[in-house]
Amino acid sequence: MKRFAVIGDPIDHSLSPVLHQEIYRQLGLDASFEKIHIKTNELHSFIHSNELDGFNVTIPHKQAIIPLLDELGESAQIIGAVNCVHNGKGYNTDWIGFLKALELNSVHLNGKNCTIIGAGGAARAIAYALINSSVNSISIINRTIEKADALVHWVKSISNIPINVQSKEYVNTQTREHLIINCTPLGMWPDTEQIPMEMDLIHENHILVDTIYNPLETQWLKSGTGIGAKVIGGLDMFIAQGLESADIWFGEKISEKVDIEKIRKILKNNFDL
Ligand SMILES: NC(=O)c1ccc[n+]([C@@H]2O[C@H](COP(=O)([O-])OP(=O)(O)OC[C@H]3O[C@@H](n4cnc5c(N)ncnc54)[C@H](OP(=O)(O)O)[C@@H]3O)[C@@H](O)[C@H]2O)c1
Repeated sequence: MKRFAVIGDPIDHSLSPVLHQEIYRQLGLDASFEKIHIKTNELHSFIHSNELDGFNVTIPHKQAIIPLLDELGESAQIIGAVNCVHNGKGYNTDWIGFLKALELNSVHLNGKNCTIIGAGGAARAIAYALINSSVNSISIINRTIEKADALVHWVKSISNIPINVQSKEYVNTQTREHLIINCTPLGMWPDTEQIPMEMDLIHENHILVDTIYNPLETQWLKSGTGIGAKVIGGLDMFIAQGLESADIWFGEKISEKVDIEKIRKILKNNFDL
């Protein structure tokens, strides 16, 4: 039997075991998936002693794990964050998860103007995804301007796509089709009333994407739907990053063989418990 896991701190609320166990069930794979609570001071010994066939990495270890690994995949190296490990090699599947989620929801990025709210790890992975999809422009809105500046600086070092720091009011001037992606935890359980951007700045031609999947539909997306905007929640990104990890661990395109609608249903049922 193959053994996989997700490590993080905290880890109790992770839905990764539900996702991966459903993949194994659908494909009849002899594999298990567990949550392992690893504190920062335990990371080093975990990396050198675990006998897993692969594992996902979540907050707060995505950057700290890098010096402990033997090698990095190209995207993990450029993004500077690892969320999937196989045989001592670190990968980043978050950016692919984001692209697959948009594909599943029939949103095409080529030539689009995009705004990212946030400038942390998820923002960086998503900026990388946007760069690789030939978007027209990227704007960054963030609470801490220095971090927004650092993200802009990083994007400029790896691409020629126009990018700048903006205030929230900027999106209100973008009345044509415009993608706005929330990469902050604003709206995540238990503070579900919070929103990352005031609704009077949003237009019906905006496409709102949230990286949050707990709750499945954030207050921001609910209000966006009310305005007539297209909205995409974080669950599809979560599912797609997990499937991409499974492809790496099993060395084959597991992702093309599973019933994604059934996985969505199982995960959604989990929220109703
Ligand atoms: N669906 C998925 O598969 C998936 C994958 C990865 C991440 N995510 C989600 O993405 C979100 C961000 O994760 P991350 O790893 O990028 O976290 P991170 O590195 O800690 O970055 C958090 C960002 O949110 C901003 N922020 C935090 N609290 C804020 C507040 N109260 N007001 C305004 N801005 C605030 C921070 O701004 P400052 O720079 O000012 O601190 C920073 O830009 C989380 O909700 C996570 O669950 C989802």
